[in-house]
Amino acid sequence: MKGIVLAGGNGTRLHPLTLSVSKQLMPIYDKPMVYYPLSTLIAAGIHEILIISTPEDLPLFERLLGNGSQWGCAFSYAEQAEPKGLAEAFIIGESFIGESSVALVLGDNLFHGGKLSEQLSALNKIEGGHIFAYQVKDPERYGVVEFDQSNRILSIEEKPKQPKSSFVVPGIYFYDNTVIQKAKGLRPSKRGELEITDINKSYLAEQRLSLTPLDQESAWLDTGTLESLMEASQYVQALQSRQGILVGSPEVAAYTSKAISLKQLLEIANKFSYTPYGEAIKKVANR
Ligand code: G1P
Repeated sequence: MKGIVLAGGNGTRLHPLTLSVSKQLMPIYDKPMVYYPLSTLIAAGIHEILIISTPEDLPLFERLLGNGSQWGCAFSYAEQAEPKGLAEAFIIGESFIGESSVALVLGDNLFHGGKLSEQLSALNKIEGGHIFAYQVKDPERYGVVEFDQSNRILSIEEKPKQPKSSFVVPGIYFYDNTVIQKAKGLRPSKRGELEITDINKSYLAEQRLSLTPLDQESAWLDTGTLESLMEASQYVQALQSRQGILVGSPEVAAYTSKAISLKQLLEIANKFSYTPYGEAIKKVANR
């Protein structure tokens, strides 16, 4: 399974913060935002990853993340010239995906805890598509999914005015290789984007879309508004200082998913020993 992190868009809702720097490079407490979704993929054992961003921002991501070898991974990069939608990632990433199945994670989505890593790792050999569901109080802002007691999906709608359920689809998606052809067959929506919801609808029509509700202990935060950005920082800070753990660390994710050894983890910790981040990695390593 290969992975794609989509970190495009122009972050208009966070201006002036994001006038000159990509939203996905904004800090969430002690790390750049993109570390969090990237760590989610790495922790799930997905180590070959394509990072997609705008032509202006892509060099900054390359400077931050390099070729991935420091974390036992292989990163490559591709441009999304204009914000033409999440589903375009599979067209841009066609040659990267090759014959594989693929997981897409949005660069501004933060997942944490519970059985998430296990749930994601289990999707390694996927047939069809797999999405997650998470209950929120403002479903009309997202892709809304309606499902029955045996998690059979009844409907999916993108930002409906009258949501049929309070469960929405968070920004992490798993698909088999047919996603490329599906993406190529899409037409832009009213907002001018190739919608991920239309990809999901297409799998649903084939009866090949499955769903897992995120367990109650897992958290999903999106960071699209100033309030949610601040809340995400506070959430990470609270967890880290209370439990002495590191949330969203690619180093720790690489270690727990066996992409790097304990020795390599300690070497990285030493490199950052002048920051609380390095200290925190060291603590994890010493456990
Ligand atoms: C996108 C998707 C939506 C999904 C959301 C998750 O929304 O279109 O279905 O629920 O990401 O963050 P957008 O960020 O484009 O408004």
